[in-house]
Amino acid sequence: MARTQIIGTGSYAPEKVLTNADLEKIVDTTDEWITARTGIRKRRVAAPGEATSDMAVQAARRALEMAGVQPEELGLIVVGTVTPDMPMPSCAAVVQAKLGAKNAFAFDISAACSGSLYALNVADQFIRNGQVKRALVIGAEMLSRAVNWEDRNTCVLFGDAAGAMVLAPTEDAERGLLSTHLYTDGSFADILCIPGGGTSKPTCEAVLKEKLHTLHMNGREVFKFAVRALADSTHTALKANGLHVRDVDHVISHQANIRILEAVLQRLELPVEKCWLNLHEYGNTSSASLPMTLDEANRAGRLKQGDVVAMMAIGAGMTWGSAVMRW
Ligand code: ACO
Repeated sequence: MARTQIIGTGSYAPEKVLTNADLEKIVDTTDEWITARTGIRKRRVAAPGEATSDMAVQAARRALEMAGVQPEELGLIVVGTVTPDMPMPSCAAVVQAKLGAKNAFAFDISAACSGSLYALNVADQFIRNGQVKRALVIGAEMLSRAVNWEDRNTCVLFGDAAGAMVLAPTEDAERGLLSTHLYTDGSFADILCIPGGGTSKPTCEAVLKEKLHTLHMNGREVFKFAVRALADSTHTALKANGLHVRDVDHVISHQANIRILEAVLQRLELPVEKCWLNLHEYGNTSSASLPMTLDEANRAGRLKQGDVVAMMAIGAGMTWGSAVMRW
């Protein structure tokens, strides 16, 4: 059976930069606190009128260009997002129309910050079973529209962006996606959620007043959960492929917090230098984070053919997972 190979990557972040100094004027915080606790120095914020699909399309065009693939050649588009343009139709359907990818079926995956890893796994199945020859996987998130800009616990963490990957089958036994291990524990749903605005608490005056339509988080619990889960899933993924941590050439991870990443890498006994970092520039861009980080490392020429790349992501749900590929 053919394996899935990533043949193009792309990313996009909106123009507007919001620095920690800018945030000092919005909430009771300091550049020092944010930098020391998270590693984040800046993030991007979408312009009024800009939608998640607009960011997704920009990232997708760059990935398609690198892959040398025309939009009509795509058989599938999967978008990982929890901030679609609207509840219905999916962001993926809007992206399909904007790209002119008329031969692709398209749908969204809701797995928060793990969205692009889940989407990669789903698209991988279609490629490997032969139903699709070219697939586009996107992580696109506009959490600036979902955070409470009066809540210093959360609004300093996130940024807007999109990342994309073009997938194709390969017969090369030395390359491609080796495995993806995904996990969910819904009993931890309340440590990171947007409680209102859905069917459980439909938008009404009370929901808006209590800001239940915005992101709520227990940061300490998320932190603890993330460190354990990411280290465990990466160990499992490597073991399943007969690999040891010393075989890993690059770590491409969801970028939530430098302290989470350092703790995970320490548990895995992997040097920080193997992990591509960009959270200081973009903050936590949720599902965009993984493909955006991959694109940066790829365009910087860091990934050599045959290199072992360990990918990991974690998000609300809780959802998490790890993938291993030979570039
Ligand atoms: N500026 C200044 N002070 C702040 C800020 C802020 N922006 N935010 C919180 N504080 C205060 C708190 O109110 C608290 O004050 P108190 O002691 O008087 O109550 C104090 O700082 C310390 O708060 P802690 O929660 O102990 O700080 P901690 O060291 O845990 O850091 C943080 C908080 C950064 C949120 C951390 O817990 C974290 O990174 N958690 C992971 C959350 C995360 O990454 N979420 C992203 C989504 S999930 C994902 O992507 C995996």
